[in-house]
Amino acid sequence: METLPFAWYTDPDVLQIEQQRIFRRSWQYAGHAGELPDAGSRFPCRAGDVPVVVVRDGDGEVRAFLNVCRHRGSVLVADEGQSATIQCPYHAWTYGLDGSLRAAPRAEEGIDLEGLGLRPVQVAAWGRFLFVNPDLEAPPLEGLPDLELDAENLRFHARVPWTLEANWKIAVENYLECYHCPVAHKDFTRRVETDPATYRLEGHDGIWSQYSRARQGEARTQFHLFWPATKVNVYPGPANLSIGPLYPDGPERCSGFLDYFFGEDVSGEDIADLFELDNQVGREDRALVEAVQRGVRSGLLEHGHLMPASEELVAGFQQKVAVALRHA
Ligand code: FES
Ligand SMILES: [Fe+2]
Repeated sequence: METLPFAWYTDPDVLQIEQQRIFRRSWQYAGHAGELPDAGSRFPCRAGDVPVVVVRDGDGEVRAFLNVCRHRGSVLVADEGQSATIQCPYHAWTYGLDGSLRAAPRAEEGIDLEGLGLRPVQVAAWGRFLFVNPDLEAPPLEGLPDLELDAENLRFHARVPWTLEANWKIAVENYLECYHCPVAHKDFTRRVETDPATYRLEGHDGIWSQYSRARQGEARTQFHLFWPATKVNVYPGPANLSIGPLYPDGPERCSGFLDYFFGEDVSGEDIADLFELDNQVGREDRALVEAVQRGVRSGLLEHGHLMPASEELVAGFQQKVAVALRHA
C-alpha cells in the first residue's frame, strides 16, 4: 500500500487546506477542568492555528470563544488567569464572560457595541478533559476511548511542551505504529511487549488505539490518537495518563504539549521513572521523525509504502487525511 504523496509533507498549500478542512472543523484537546476553578477563570489554547479562549462564566458554565478581538483582531488572552471580564490589551475593548462586548473607550465617537460579541467556539467535556471545535456546525464530541481507568481521581502533575522539525502528519504517523519500537526504542521494548502477537492495534473511524502490556507484571499500556491530533497515553506502571494536542506550525514543523496526571499515591520516584522512559522515547522519536522530514523533502520519490498489518493505523489515518483534502 502506498503512503500519501511525499509532497504533502512539505507543501504550504496542502497545510493551508488541512488547516481549513481538518483543524478548523474538528474537536481538539484544549486543557482540563482544573484550569477553570472559579467564575472568570480562563485559559488560552489553540485548535490548529485558531486561537481559542476557554472561560468559566458567572453561572459556572464552561464557554469557549475565538480568542480574537472584534476591534482590529488582536489576540485577547495570552495567559491563564481570572477576572470578571476579558479585556483586549490593545485598545481595551472589554467583553463579558458571555462574550458580549460591554465597553470600548471613546465608544461615543460612534460605534455600536451590540453585535460585536466574541465569536463562539464549541467546547465539550470528556470527563475532566476539555475539547474545543471552531466549527459551530460540527457534530458533538464523541468516539473517545473507554480508558478503563479512573481518570477523575488522577492528580494533575505538569504540562510539558514540545516542538519537532517535522510535518504534523509525520509526527502522528510515527505515533500510530510500534513497528519501529524494537528497532528504535530498545529500552521501551525491554519493558513493554512490542511484538505483533501481543501488541494490539485497533482502528475505528477517527480513533486509533494501541494496547500492550509490561513484560513484567500485569500493567497495561494504551496509546490513542483521536482525529485529527489529540494523543492519550497510559504507560505501564502506577496510575498515570497523559493527554495533549498537536499543532501544525508550518509545513515542516509542529508542536504540542502533554498534560500529565498521576494517581494520588504515586511516588515521586515512580513519576521520575515514567518521565525518564517517556523522555527517552521522545528523544528517539524526534530523531526518527526529523529524519523522515529531511527524506521526504528530497523531492525525488513520490511516495513510500506501508506494511499491511503493522502500519494499519497509519493507513487509516492517511486515508482520513486524503478524504479531507480531496473533498471540501
Ligand atoms: S484590537 Fe482589541 S481593542 Fe483594539
Ligand atoms: Fe516511537
